[in-house]
Amino acid sequence: MRVPFIAGNWKMNTTATEAEKLVLEMLDKLDRAKGVEKLLCPPFISLVAVNMMLQNSSIKLGAQNMYFETEGAFTGEISPIMLCGLCEFVILGHSERRGYFGETDEIVHKKVKAALTSKLRPILCVGERLAENEAGKTEDAISKQVTGALQGIEPISNLVVAYEPVWAIGTGKAASHEQAAATIQFIRDVLVKLWNRSVAQNVRILYGGSVNSKNIAEFASRPEIDGALVGGASLKSEEFISIVEQTAEIKGRAK
Ligand code: PGA
Repeated sequence: MRVPFIAGNWKMNTTATEAEKLVLEMLDKLDRAKGVEKLLCPPFISLVAVNMMLQNSSIKLGAQNMYFETEGAFTGEISPIMLCGLCEFVILGHSERRGYFGETDEIVHKKVKAALTSKLRPILCVGERLAENEAGKTEDAISKQVTGALQGIEPISNLVVAYEPVWAIGTGKAASHEQAAATIQFIRDVLVKLWNRSVAQNVRILYGGSVNSKNIAEFASRPEIDGALVGGASLKSEEFISIVEQTAEIKGRAK
């Protein structure tokens, strides 16, 4: 059985003070939600403070990005060894990194390898653009991203993949649960071919893109979908708590 997973990606939001306030607002209720793994990904500058606040809780911490080199003259970058010990997860290949900062599949591949070397758990983001979707090229795009990131890497059953169609991110237009479930099943099939069935069955695959407290139930009700990567709605404590609680309840019932 895969443990359901809800991750909050705060993106470039919250000052250090605001981040602490947001954690305080959510801490108790998130901590009490059982049967679902909970993850917060605040900006880099808040990782140390949030790490301290999450000690003795069931909530985990992740970074939103990292560079693949371990140290050196890379002004402004954060390395895997700076993150390990501080957080357990790292989001890699988010479509905003790919779109605004030119991250290619090759770079994402190097980052996945570097994260694993430093014992960080990657959350690999993949998703088709609107034009690819409209041209019926969703599966081609996804297959290229998954294979590009993971080919040549030993099977990792504790990998997390987030399927985030670019057209659904931050637009208020979530994919339908049918579309999301079908593409997630396709991703699992790609992993079966790339690695093997038993590893692929253990990889958690999330949906992301305009998830909120109103639509999470549809996604969580699908056995193919193991949870969500939440952007905008993770910045509102009531919303995020509701997303986590509904997921715990729906997935708990399905067991
Ligand atoms: P959104 O972002 O929930 O604001 O659409 C999701 C993401 O980019 O992870």
